[in-house]
Amino acid sequence: MRLAKFLAHAGVASRRGAEEIIRSGRVQIAGTTVTDPARDVDIDSGVAVDGKFLEGPEERMVFLVNKPKGVLSTAADTHGRRTIVDLVPSRGARLYPVGRLDADSTGLILVTNDGDLAQRLTHPSFEVPRTYRAAVRPAPVPEHALRRLREGVDLDDGRTAPAKVRQVKPGVLELTIHEGRNHQVKRMCEAVGHRVNTLQRIRFGPLRLDDLPEGGHRRLKAAEVENLRRTPSG
Ligand code: URA
Repeated sequence: MRLAKFLAHAGVASRRGAEEIIRSGRVQIAGTTVTDPARDVDIDSGVAVDGKFLEGPEERMVFLVNKPKGVLSTAADTHGRRTIVDLVPSRGARLYPVGRLDADSTGLILVTNDGDLAQRLTHPSFEVPRTYRAAVRPAPVPEHALRRLREGVDLDDGRTAPAKVRQVKPGVLELTIHEGRNHQVKRMCEAVGHRVNTLQRIRFGPLRLDDLPEGGHRRLKAAEVENLRRTPSG
């Protein structure tokens, strides 16, 4: 098996994250540093990360978390700030978030040690639909601005794909997009003249936030994980 895949299966990081870890020289095979993510390895190869040997694959787990404002969606923060992973009982597993939410955004984010699933869900070609609720100013948003959001707006990294957008009450939009660009919703709204005051993700693929309290989490059931693997769903 490719070294990067082996690391992902062992729960070290997503496949892409594992490639970066390997290229940065943190991985050894039988005591020798290896920087080629494609190196062929198996359980008997003596693969170690930062000098620690990896023992077989970890039990896979996926948690749905309701991220509060101010919590970072990274696995660890160099300044010791609270991260999304701190909100979940990891029981020794190396968990990391699936994609990102801005520090000041709230809502649904997945945390897992399943590298294959994480890669699948964040890869642009899978186009997982994500729904956000955005409170914007000025309110209300006029019909011509809603139409522009739906049809696609020009951002500095290119035109956005068509989106589903409805104004659920004056100044509160529900937007469903399936691209995962940085600050995408805020930038889209700004491009049509509206500033996002609060942003919450309420759906990710087939999953909904429902009434999970802020800071709360729940472990996904096997059937939900299977359903996710079959995403895109909309
Ligand atoms: N779009 C944003 O602007 N911010 C997020 O956190 C997610 C989507």
